[in-house]
Amino acid sequence: MGSAQQDVQLQDFGTIFSLEGKVAVVTGGSRGLGLHVASGFMQAGCSKVYITSRKAKACEEAVAALNALPNKRPGAEAISVPADSSKISEIERLAAEVAKTTDHVDILFANAGASWGAPFESHPESAFSKVMDLNVKSVFYTCQKFEPLLKKRASVDNPSRIIVTASVAGLGVGTLGKNATFSYSASKAAVLHLARNLAVELGPRGILTNAIAPGFYPTKMASGLMELEGGQEALAAEVPNRRLGHPEDIAGLVVFLSSRASSHINGAVITTDGGSLLSRGRL
Ligand SMILES: NC(=O)c1ccc[n+]([C@@H]2O[C@H](COP(=O)([O-])OP(=O)(O)OC[C@H]3O[C@@H](n4cnc5c(N)ncnc54)[C@H](OP(=O)(O)O)[C@@H]3O)[C@@H](O)[C@H]2O)c1
Repeated sequence: MGSAQQDVQLQDFGTIFSLEGKVAVVTGGSRGLGLHVASGFMQAGCSKVYITSRKAKACEEAVAALNALPNKRPGAEAISVPADSSKISEIERLAAEVAKTTDHVDILFANAGASWGAPFESHPESAFSKVMDLNVKSVFYTCQKFEPLLKKRASVDNPSRIIVTASVAGLGVGTLGKNATFSYSASKAAVLHLARNLAVELGPRGILTNAIAPGFYPTKMASGLMELEGGQEALAAEVPNRRLGHPEDIAGLVVFLSSRASSHINGAVITTDGGSLLSRGRL
């Protein structure tokens, strides 16, 4: 065989984005970005997708919608496990509940998060602590408590994945002024660096860790701030590609970071913001 013929031999390229048979856990999975990604997981071939957030009813509604998807993998199921990720005891209970119905986890999407907007002078201490705890400390302990399940089937050639939801507010500055997001922006910068540390610690165990940094996506969390900052249309006009994030933008990115296609990406941060971070202050 000639060298060009050898060079075009990519093994099984048709399945490079497939999550066939994978088991995934999505924190903050009952709505917003987590639910969009859970839908992507189901449609990319996952066999089990665990949905967790505080409210049991919201988790059950999310799971019912996911299980009704017409193009999910045959036999695939979404499973609701309500838990409060802000409490370490609840994260432990979550991992134990998940372990009752699977002997391993391939993908952990650590996505649950909270925000707070208040001016510099009156930014409340209680909110600062709550945001840092959920957005940073809880992400670490979620990874720690799921590590035994994540490494069960992990190997150099078939690594498990942790994907952490940060934000462009952790790369540039967040919102300032009367709706300032000091604690949120600091927490997202911190969780990005936590992801890099986890990438180096857990890589040798066959677990890759990467972070995503979304710009504005219309969700329950973001819509209040988006209204205060001029509304969706005005904000979209400031983005270089002239739009906000769509559900499939986030689902496609996280499916990619969970798939064989990203097997050599570890400790990276991928922005999904239409270029807004690069164009701050310019239209
Ligand atoms: N939307 C954006 O523009 C944007 C941009 C950058 C980054 N992000 C990040 O994306 C992630 C998801 O946000 P989203 O925009 O999708 O917001 P969202 O629609 O408000 O969803 C937040 C999810 O987190 C869950 N949650 C909140 N507190 C929790 C807790 N203590 N324990 C467990 N689950 C909890 C919520 O469910 P329960 O209320 O039932 O707990 C819900 O499922 C966050 O980390 C956020 O910072 C969002």
